Amino acid sequence: MTITNDIRYIGVNDRRIDLFEGMYVVPEGMAYNSYVIIDEKTAVMDTADRHFVDEWMGNLAKALESRKPDYLVVHHMEPDHSAGIEAFMNAYPEAKVVATAKAFTMMKNFTGIDYTSRGIVAKEGDTLALGSHTLRFITAPMVHWPEVMMSYDEKDRVLFSADAFGKFGALDFDDPEGWACEARRYYFGIVGKYGGQVQAVLKKAAALDIRIICPLHGPVLDENLGYYLDLYNTWSSYGTETDGVAVFYTSVYGHTEEAALLLAEKLKEKGCPKVAVSDLARDDMAEAVEDAFRYGKIVLATTTYNADIFPFMKEFIEHLTERNYQNRKIGLIENGSWAPTAAKVMKGMLEGCKNTTFAETEVKILSALTEENRAQIDRLAEEMK
Ligand code: FEO
Repeated sequence: MTITNDIRYIGVNDRRIDLFEGMYVVPEGMAYNSYVIIDEKTAVMDTADRHFVDEWMGNLAKALESRKPDYLVVHHMEPDHSAGIEAFMNAYPEAKVVATAKAFTMMKNFTGIDYTSRGIVAKEGDTLALGSHTLRFITAPMVHWPEVMMSYDEKDRVLFSADAFGKFGALDFDDPEGWACEARRYYFGIVGKYGGQVQAVLKKAAALDIRIICPLHGPVLDENLGYYLDLYNTWSSYGTETDGVAVFYTSVYGHTEEAALLLAEKLKEKGCPKVAVSDLARDDMAEAVEDAFRYGKIVLATTTYNADIFPFMKEFIEHLTERNYQNRKIGLIENGSWAPTAAKVMKGMLEGCKNTTFAETEVKILSALTEENRAQIDRLAEEMK
């Protein structure tokens, strides 16, 4: 695949992966993107996952034709992109690896080999001249690991953005839901905690004239870039992307579910622009997490369990708080047959979240819904709509 006259795609599609990063379901697989710039000097941008190193090396050899690579630019050391470094450096002993100082340390930790004698340490703003192309390096710590950098090709105005602007899904799949759905699940799952660091990189990117974004996962973005940049700005500033309410519940015998679904119905009746409902025991947890960050208002409904809350809700709230959940309005529905504590526990877990308010109406169910509960749910819907 040709990205520009001098830039070729040499990545691979992973269709056998079950869990990305050991955690995220990826029913449509994953792409490990890699690129090569052909100029007076040739530069290879990252490698691939360990299961695909041979395929990737084949793609590289084909793109280079009979030339040899001069540089391997390592933007990120997570093994989904770095597993081919050793094979590459062995196959091309003249090549130099270009990476941040932290990345060289990680290379040694992963491979046992110190590549600094065959390397160039890249710092913020450093450049690498390839001929007509010049790469400028932009450090991007914690997007997604501390060693991460991006590269900007000044000639073709291409940003090699590392994990940023990536999405789940192999590239042989045309996602009918468009880019944002799986990009959002990926973003909040993987870098949701580091909104501040993403904001810092977006500020640096704003000073560049970017025509194409080449991420390490997902499609190359070459039109309507404002759309993607705006979404990244909203996500990384913990803003509201979609007006509406997301309702998350766990239920043991169906009563808490009944309350959550009744609330969803009432919200719709009262004109709430969008209502999303997730059963945390059955729906994908990462989908639920992205919805919590997508909407400005959420409602949590769960049962008391071992004087605490039901495990799936506990895990869900932990996913939110460890990702710096903030700027939200939260409604609570609790159920408990003899000593309900769920609302208190949920509030306690969320009280450290910045700029977050709780709805005045709290729904307290003592097993099955009563008329009073139905009235409370109506009041909660009125508050949250
Ligand atoms: Fe795609 Fe953070 O690795």
